[in-house]
Amino acid sequence: MAKLNIVKEGDPILRKKSRPITVVDERIRQLAADMLETMRAANGCGLAAVQVGKLRRIVVVEVEENKPFIMINPEIIRREGRQQETEGCLSLPGKWGVTDRPMTVTVRASGLDGKEYTVTGSGLTARAFCHEIDHLDGILFTDNAVRMLDPEEVEG
Ligand code: NI
Repeated sequence: MAKLNIVKEGDPILRKKSRPITVVDERIRQLAADMLETMRAANGCGLAAVQVGKLRRIVVVEVEENKPFIMINPEIIRREGRQQETEGCLSLPGKWGVTDRPMTVTVRASGLDGKEYTVTGSGLTARAFCHEIDHLDGILFTDNAVRMLDPEEVEG
């Protein structure tokens, strides 16, 4: 595994649309492993491939320790409820904002075995799913934040 560099805000790649993955091969499995390592090293709970410079539709999300979701070509197929909570992004260090997200979402994706699965998550997990999948279409959380927080608010 290898820790990769995280692309920061201002790099135009973050605004590009990622391409679907047609075959889950060794290169994709390696990318997923590297993304997990990179996300964990940065203390993040989600990472999209575009954030390590690869325009492919794959995200990793890990809200609960050692229970990562690897999502290839993920799609939100159901949204329920609403939440407004604080969000940040490894590509936008030091920025925090309140976003308007569904409380619960169901995602359909493929795993590293190439098989399709669905998963439903609520709260932080739902926010992370939405946030990472937005990255695949060049959307950043600041685009639809209800409001951004001042640094003093974040530090409490
Ligand atoms: Ni992000």
